[in-house]
Amino acid sequence: MSFTLDKVVPWGRSYDEYGAMFSLTKADLNKKILGCGDGPASFNAELTKIGGKVVSVDPIYLFFAKDIMSRIDATYDEVMEQTAKNYNEFVWKHIKSIDDLGSIRMKAMERFLEDYPKADGRYISGELPFLPFKNKEFDLALCSHFLFLYSKQHSFEFHIQSIKELCRVASEVRIFPLLELGARKSGHLDKVISMLEKEECEWSIIKVCYEFQKGGNEMLHIKS
Ligand SMILES: C[S@@+](CC[C@H](N)C(=O)[O-])C[C@H]1O[C@@H](n2cnc3c(N)ncnc32)[C@H](O)[C@@H]1O
Repeated sequence: MSFTLDKVVPWGRSYDEYGAMFSLTKADLNKKILGCGDGPASFNAELTKIGGKVVSVDPIYLFFAKDIMSRIDATYDEVMEQTAKNYNEFVWKHIKSIDDLGSIRMKAMERFLEDYPKADGRYISGELPFLPFKNKEFDLALCSHFLFLYSKQHSFEFHIQSIKELCRVASEVRIFPLLELGARKSGHLDKVISMLEKEECEWSIIKVCYEFQKGGNEMLHIKS
């Protein structure tokens, strides 16, 4: 079955949020980075502007900017309503209110939409669990708000295959958050960790200084 935009709720975070979610240091930002499932986040646009090397991969890059923009317009109110309905699942500290959230996210997505049509090979259409890249093509792969978050929608096997694929294409992998929707610990996390242990991977769970979903302040770090 082919990928269609009407199943996607585009929602993108900023460069500053990526920096905090993944504890990115100056040295990290000089690495060759893959953003997996970056969607309409502005991390790629902003890092490229200051000289970084980053490629994003996401199934929505099959589409034109105008189509992604229409989908953002069509889903924006619903996302805001859902967030307001689940207000207590979030920490309203750095992001102060629902209105603040809307304006931070829209600013990030507008930056993405401006950059996307003129990016030369920085936005590649593709999807986990199989990525269109060579072995160890990247130093660092980041995956924000896709793996673990959609644990109800994607099976344990999908998570394992996807994590192995990220380890194939990058020397280091960071995944954030480790919660699923509803601000609960991902139902796959313990089994994923057992698998990493069994495969003798070097892994750790690292506390970061970003928390919007309550309890969502940890990333999984894997050296492959
Ligand atoms: C909630 S958004 C997160 C966007 C961005 N990473 C951020 O944190 O702002 C989830 C993204 O995962 C993408 N996605 C969906 N299925 C995917 C797959 N199989 N492989 C990679 N990305 C996928 C969606 O298109 C969407 O852009």
